[in-house]
Amino acid sequence: MNHRTTTRRRALTGGALALTAALTLAGCGDDVGSGDKDAKPELKVSGAYIPQPTMDDMAAGFFTLTNKGGADKLTSATSDIAGSVTLHSTKGGVMKEEKSFDVPANGHLDFASGGNHLMLEKLKRKPKQGEKVSLTLRFQKSDPITVEVPVKEATYKPAQHDTSHNSH
Ligand code: CU
Repeated sequence: MNHRTTTRRRALTGGALALTAALTLAGCGDDVGSGDKDAKPELKVSGAYIPQPTMDDMAAGFFTLTNKGGADKLTSATSDIAGSVTLHSTKGGVMKEEKSFDVPANGHLDFASGGNHLMLEKLKRKPKQGEKVSLTLRFQKSDPITVEVPVKEATYKPAQHDTSHNSH
């Protein structure tokens, strides 16, 4: 019981500690939801696009996720044209695969060139400018969101991002 009080207090301090608290709570069984300030996330995807890839087997995806409710987490993504979709962050020019991304309460999560991005890999076909690709985003709390993402010209993808993926 002492344990529960402690984790709740830690959750209230927010920030990085909240993550630690969440992980701790996950080990405690069904109490996971109770530490949360029940506001339901209200997610909306906008500005999604995929630059027509220069490579045959991989493409990047960008979008903005707006949240008018409580915090959520982007946990995975899938696409009809890709055998696998991974979540990547770019910090200080270094790209890293992430297991999930926090979607802040009453805030937004940006996937933009040079920063966070989706990597569509094991492409079943190469997306061409002008067509649309179906992309489904999955979350810890919200229902999955499927968007039809337009494929833009290759130059939508900045050279910086291009280079960083040559090493994939
Ligand atoms: Cu990447």
